[in-house]
Amino acid sequence: MTAVIAKKKTAKKGTSSKKKAVTKKAAKRRDGRPETPKSKLYASLVVQLLSLLKGEHDFIANAANFSALLFNALPNVNWAGFYFLQGEELVLGPFQGNPACVRIPMGQGVCGVAAQQCETIIVPNVHEFPGHIACDVASNSEIVVPLFDGERLLGVLDLDSAIIGRFDDQDAEGLNELATVFVAHEEGLGL
Ligand code: SME
Repeated sequence: MTAVIAKKKTAKKGTSSKKKAVTKKAAKRRDGRPETPKSKLYASLVVQLLSLLKGEHDFIANAANFSALLFNALPNVNWAGFYFLQGEELVLGPFQGNPACVRIPMGQGVCGVAAQQCETIIVPNVHEFPGHIACDVASNSEIVVPLFDGERLLGVLDLDSAIIGRFDDQDAEGLNELATVFVAHEEGLGL
């Protein structure tokens, strides 16, 4: 199985054969501190996100801080950021990590499929996902969470990891909750 549809809507080609798979043994936070259980970590991230958003309604600034929060707090994440829907394609938004492809047509790549299907997609091994768009050759797994304002698709939140199987249902749940908090805060801003 190449991908797991985790939850209905809520809130360059690689050189894979030459790359060494990174194992979970190496899992560590970016700051070197021990890993927190995921449920606790996501609960803490909700509090931190609310604090970052409080009193601020600049959408780009909030999206940028949200991506920085995820990138720095979640262990073993090498890219975290947004693609926002513009017409029939997703366009790169604020992110942390290596420069990435700017435009992704609906239905293409993991992001385009998640957006088209309005589903969170967990890809344990991106090299087994047909049509995966490799922005960073270090990435081996990915999770994409669609963002909704009510029924309207705004875009997607995308996270990559060098670790195969890095993302699971707890990540899907936690990231969906964070995405819901983010969108609820931004509602009414004419996105
Ligand atoms: N891998 C994504 C492209 C975006 S990057 O991961 C930042 C995809 O297949 O849609």
